[in-house]
Amino acid sequence: MEWNKKSFVVVSGASKGIGRTIAVEFSNKVAPGSKFVLLARSKSGLEETKSLCCPNVLVETLSVNLESPDEQTLKDFLSAAAANPEVYERAVVVHNAGSLGNLQRTAKDFDDLDEINKYFNLNVGSMILLNTLFLQAFPESDAYKRLVVNITSLCGIKPFQGFSMYCTGKATREMFLKVI
Ligand SMILES: NC(=O)c1ccc[n+]([C@@H]2O[C@H](COP(=O)([O-])OP(=O)(O)OC[C@H]3O[C@@H](n4cnc5c(N)ncnc54)[C@H](OP(=O)(O)O)[C@@H]3O)[C@@H](O)[C@H]2O)c1
Repeated sequence: MEWNKKSFVVVSGASKGIGRTIAVEFSNKVAPGSKFVLLARSKSGLEETKSLCCPNVLVETLSVNLESPDEQTLKDFLSAAAANPEVYERAVVVHNAGSLGNLQRTAKDFDDLDEINKYFNLNVGSMILLNTLFLQAFPESDAYKRLVVNITSLCGIKPFQGFSMYCTGKATREMFLKVI
């Protein structure tokens, strides 16, 4: 990846952990005037990440629960943030937000459909939705290159006892992006 480009970067799960580090490290490498869109639930965590980013980039944050995001709010926020896509040379989305799920449960314990749906909404559904909104905000163009990054795990390709939800979610994301 050529770093020194005017970039539009979306990072999900940017309020702490790997997502925060990605946002901060990327912000130090891209060209001045780049824009970062950071998503997570914790407003204070997002603000802290913003304060750690390079001052040469613009940072916009949205507090959103990706277990049950309001689609229109997410869409309006992204399309407003990317109102002039052709001013960028590169558009990047980093699908980082994720959760382990309840590791106490084994295959005989998954009897709560609401819990199952919430898990896959966060770890699969909202990732697919965000990816779609990103591709709609940055349709194919000669002005910029697009890059989709998926933060995955060995669990996406190898089964681990007790990690059935996590493994399934990561494997699903892998396949979705392979199809793309
Ligand atoms: N840590 C590891 O060793 C490891 C290894 C392999 C893969 N990974 C993957 O790396 C990614 C990040 O892991 P991490 O260790 O940095 O995790 P983390 O510290 O728990 O951070 C997870 C991020 O996702 C966000 N998030 C969680 N639930 C959310 C929700 N319902 N709505 C919106 N945002 C939500 C959190 O923000 P809020 O809580 O503010 O919402 C946070 O910013 C995950 O996809 C994980 O599977 C991690």
